[in-house]
Amino acid sequence: MSAAGNKPRVAVLISGSGSNLQSLIDAAHAPNYPAEIALVLSNVATAYGIERANKAGIPVKVISHNDFADRSSFEAALAASLAEFKIEYVCLAGFMRILTADFVRLWAGRMLNIHPSLLPAFKGRNVHAQALAAGVTISGCTVHLVTPELDDGPIIVQAAVPVLPDDDEAHLAKRILAEEHRIYPQALAWLASGRINVADDDKTAQARARLGSLINPPV
Ligand code: GRF
Repeated sequence: MSAAGNKPRVAVLISGSGSNLQSLIDAAHAPNYPAEIALVLSNVATAYGIERANKAGIPVKVISHNDFADRSSFEAALAASLAEFKIEYVCLAGFMRILTADFVRLWAGRMLNIHPSLLPAFKGRNVHAQALAAGVTISGCTVHLVTPELDDGPIIVQAAVPVLPDDDEAHLAKRILAEEHRIYPQALAWLASGRINVADDDKTAQARARLGSLINPPV
């Protein structure tokens, strides 16, 4: 196993509590974990996840979308920080901004998201309310590669969680979150150790050709 400094460098993008960030930090403490959490990026200055990162000694950048005129300039700032910290993989962990297709394509095959449902069921927001309203007896969570369409990319791993007869959103969310904390570190380990490869489609290849110099190390 390579020394800690040689492991692929991962940025975790957050907007809130950062409990998934914590699960990645904890997993990455294991000497044989194949990735290093090298940067936490938050678009919200008060996100509790920032404290988690500080406690773990991980560099934090706060980049508020409110400081930018449009999505592209916000993302240019994100890209600059990712390049500055030589990030190779990105984990979205409760990051509440929609990313443009160009940005997503630039990171195709290297960016993961976690979503609290068994995708393709219940995309978007208010996921647990959607599941309860639909009356499903099993819900769960999904880690997937990020593609331009929301909550839609290739699925890496899922965990199923029973919906109990008297469940409400909070109780269901809590039990699903516990499973999120189990599967996200597993998925990142697979990705960072080169076990997941997805071929670029034409649009992705074109975006890389146009914008590839923005990414460091280059793709
Ligand atoms: C999680 O439920 C995750 O699936 C969703 O947002 C929530 C983030 O929670 N995308 P946390 O900030 O990791 O605690």
